[in-house]
Amino acid sequence: MSFNSFGRVFRFTTWGESHGPALGAVVDGCPPGLSLSEADIQPYLDRRRPGQSRFTTQRQEPDQVRILSGVFEGRTTGTPIALHIDNVDQRSKDYSDVAKAYRPGHADYAYDQKYGFRDYRGGGRSSARETAARVAAGAVARLVIPEVTITAWVEAIGGDAIDYARFDAAEIGNNPFFCPDPDAAARWEALVDAARKDGSSLGAVVACEATGVPAGWGAPLYAKLDSELAAACMSINAVKGFEIGDGFAAAALRGEENADAMRPGNDGGVAFLANHAGGIAGGIATGQPVRMRVAFKPTSSILIPVETVTRDGEASEIRTKGRHDPCVGIRGVPVVEAMVALVLADQKLLHRAQVG
Ligand SMILES: Cc1cc2nc3c(=O)[nH]c(=O)nc-3n(C[C@H](O)[C@H](O)[C@H](O)COP(=O)(O)O)c2cc1C
Repeated sequence: MSFNSFGRVFRFTTWGESHGPALGAVVDGCPPGLSLSEADIQPYLDRRRPGQSRFTTQRQEPDQVRILSGVFEGRTTGTPIALHIDNVDQRSKDYSDVAKAYRPGHADYAYDQKYGFRDYRGGGRSSARETAARVAAGAVARLVIPEVTITAWVEAIGGDAIDYARFDAAEIGNNPFFCPDPDAAARWEALVDAARKDGSSLGAVVACEATGVPAGWGAPLYAKLDSELAAACMSINAVKGFEIGDGFAAAALRGEENADAMRPGNDGGVAFLANHAGGIAGGIATGQPVRMRVAFKPTSSILIPVETVTRDGEASEIRTKGRHDPCVGIRGVPVVEAMVALVLADQKLLHRAQVG
């Protein structure tokens, strides 16, 4: 009813707000016997952590995770795993204007309409601080699917895209943009700096690939692997678009172009000659890489004044002060990977439950 949980068999619930004392996740349905410690989770949180470059928010959060339950002698027990992360760097006074007037593009107005009362500090529950909890839960999910490798990267910022001829996966961790093309990363420094100095923000496209997903994971009809991935990624703050495989571009192809032609494979299986479908057919994985793209809008909290109304319905203008990401898609990369891991862990256990 209140929609703070996601997943069917491997299910997680997040809790907490931007300026509360802490936030976290409860992961339920994790198989017993998996080796799990904070050290398995922390590297993923460190990738998402704010304040690591001038291209992200300067809020300084160590994001140290603590496992409160569900692990005994270093192994999961099959009981709920509670993950706890302290908030240590809140500056609630930056939000005095947001208490009175709505930020267009943010959730302030919609939350007031729904609940009639809102924690405006840092955006409360609508803040992407919550995505730290998803990343922590996603790290646990990865332990359930060791056969799968999930890699996401930023494909475009402000409409300036990478050149796939220069794609180098080893570069993704070498720049502050999770960018696999060093030339694009160099261009984006100037692009994001200019937007930040203008008091504005930029959108981004994040691409993600999951390899090693066995043929058969997924389900018809109402838990299609693609619809589950779409729901997971669309639930991330600021995501406004999702594509699987060629996505919208497939609508411009002819049937023979779009078909992923097949030949007998060496191992008695099949070899696909293309992957327009993004590794999913009929809602079920084909064994090809699962490929998707996620569109993040530009940050709505900006210094450039925007016309708005106050809580009392008066005409007003808002300039959002405080520390904000100039391009939320950058830190969206570890969040997309986490949501994909959470879906795939759930789908693996669902597949095992039905098919053995
Ligand atoms: C990693 C990440 C960081 C974000 N940081 C900010 C931010 O600093 N300021 C802001 O206004 N929005 C930020 N957002 C986006 C808002 O949380 C989001 O726009 C808001 O909750 C409204 O939801 P919607 O955009 O999905 O409609 C961030 C999103 C992500 C994924």
